[in-house]
Amino acid sequence: THVVTEACFNCKYTDCVVVCPVECFYEADSMVYINPDECIDCEACVPECPVEAIYHEDNVPEKWQEYIQINAEKSQELPVITEKKEPLADC
Ligand code: F3S
Repeated sequence: THVVTEACFNCKYTDCVVVCPVECFYEADSMVYINPDECIDCEACVPECPVEAIYHEDNVPEKWQEYIQINAEKSQELPVITEKKEPLADC
């Protein structure tokens, strides 16, 4: 699976969500998360993110390892997001 990391926090550009063929992004107030049970590792989202927030789970930087678990948990309880939005002002 792929994982959204802290680089997305307070940004939420949402360029990633529109290219996902399986609609596996879920939206929180501050960032988005990927459901690992749905992600097919197509990598379409990776080059779309302007802040390089998305990594394959095997390549998540050390400081953001906790996001593997956070994506798995948070994606279960949030609404799916498939459409582009304005990025957050704090980015
Ligand atoms: Fe976040 Fe990048 Fe997507 S900032 S919403 S992972 S395009």
